[in-house]
Amino acid sequence: MLKQQRIDRLNRKILEEYSEQKIVLGHGNINSSIILIGEAPGSNEVKLQKPFVGQAGKNFDEFLEILEIDREEVYITNVVKYRPTKKSLKTQGVINRTPTKKEIELFKGYLLEEIDIIKPKIIVPLGNTPLKALFQKEHKISEVHGTLFNISINEIDYNVYPLYHPAAVIYRRELRKVYVDDLKKLKKII
Ligand code: URA
Repeated sequence: MLKQQRIDRLNRKILEEYSEQKIVLGHGNINSSIILIGEAPGSNEVKLQKPFVGQAGKNFDEFLEILEIDREEVYITNVVKYRPTKKSLKTQGVINRTPTKKEIELFKGYLLEEIDIIKPKIIVPLGNTPLKALFQKEHKISEVHGTLFNISINEIDYNVYPLYHPAAVIYRRELRKVYVDDLKKLKKII
């Protein structure tokens, strides 16, 4: 079966299984040699039906510029395909929350299938949530960012190069230099 047919079939399966939810599917070039994996969509992503289009997306675009890669050249997805929310105790409004272990487990199969369809040369998990989905062992992004790993999915070996989540830089400006250094290293690898 063609790649496009496989991804269409997978996306239909996700949309059917989560028909009660507003789903944001993976986006970009299915023939890309690089797949970037975020945590879960936020409100802007849900509105525009695309991963990384909100504030984190702005940082993300800047980082793609460092790599001299166009957004449309890569494939971008999230572990959890809906927006996990909670009620803010302060404002009583709806805010984002980190996906639970259970949610990560529920979506892991879909993510691995996405990777198996795209068959990238390198997988770039952004932050802790995609690390949890990809590795059995607990890794912390603060310890493994900028390090090259190897994992096997469906008997195919992939390079994995974890980066901090682009939103982390919004809250922790001191991470910016670390991030840029990691990206420069990644640029050499790809
Ligand atoms: N953060 C993510 O992890 N994914 C998105 O799509 C947007 C923000």
